[in-house]
Amino acid sequence: MTDHTGKRYVVTGAASGIGHSVAEKLIKAGAEVTSLDRNDPTAPVARQVKVDLADEESIDAALAQLEGPYDALINVAGVPGTAPSDVVFAVNTLAVRKLAEAFFELLVPGGNVTVISSTAGFGWPQRLETIREFLATDTYEEGAAWYRDHPQEGNAYNFSKECTTVYVHAMGLAFHELGFRLNAVLPGPVETPILQDFRETMGEDTIDGLATLLGRHANPEDIADVAIFLASDEARWVNGESITVDGGTGGAVLSGSVPIPEF
Ligand SMILES: NC(=O)c1ccc[n+]([C@@H]2O[C@H](COP(=O)([O-])OP(=O)(O)OC[C@H]3O[C@@H](n4cnc5c(N)ncnc54)[C@H](O)[C@@H]3O)[C@@H](O)[C@H]2O)c1
Repeated sequence: MTDHTGKRYVVTGAASGIGHSVAEKLIKAGAEVTSLDRNDPTAPVARQVKVDLADEESIDAALAQLEGPYDALINVAGVPGTAPSDVVFAVNTLAVRKLAEAFFELLVPGGNVTVISSTAGFGWPQRLETIREFLATDTYEEGAAWYRDHPQEGNAYNFSKECTTVYVHAMGLAFHELGFRLNAVLPGPVETPILQDFRETMGEDTIDGLATLLGRHANPEDIADVAIFLASDEARWVNGESITVDGGTGGAVLSGSVPIPEF
């Protein structure tokens, strides 16, 4: 892996799964990592800042403790569709947007924000107008109010990731104007503690059917390496983009080679 000595990163979700792998890999590559999580990470981070991403005041308190500038924010934290839908939307979407924009003040010139969204948000083109209505809200609180007033059909997790993916696509140019980048990784199923929740909300056949096609699910390292690439200077001209990391199933669906799974 590229040497990250002297680089400073903030990683959310570093206490488990993909975020743990991102933190561990960056630290091994020489970087300083600050964790933002509700739980304590086991990777040897420089600093753990406790935060509840479902609570705006807690996010503000955590932001006040950060000491930039940082090379990147890697926003990995997320909750599955088994959590209450307002919490899902708050953590997976509202907190992502709030933190990304708070980092305008905390990034080095040329810095970036890299977000983990999901292939579960692939349905965004069908809901683009609704998602754009949400994106027209300005703040975490306004976004939460919009969501309360616009209950969505189906799995709250899918909608939260649809919004996050479209946010990243929509904001790339605004980040560029400020001298920054914004990108997303869209993983398919990954062997982490929340995979069992996905089996409950999306169906065991759907989730494990993908592993039957591929021979395995992703492991956290498969996703972390791509997130770290996007967050590094090697990806300096990649912006407003989402990269699918799913072993090939998404491409097969998009090309009509295999049917769209029912989430
Ligand atoms: N595992 C998968 O199959 C999969 C697939 C696609 C996308 N993703 C996405 O990848 C990201 C990481 O998921 P993971 O699989 O590593 O899950 P995980 O459950 O292993 O880790 C989630 C992390 O987020 C933190 N977190 C959750 N809610 C929080 C809150 N309110 N405040 C602060 N921290 C909070 C947890 O403490 C934990 O460290 C999520 O955004 C998830 O939606 C996962």
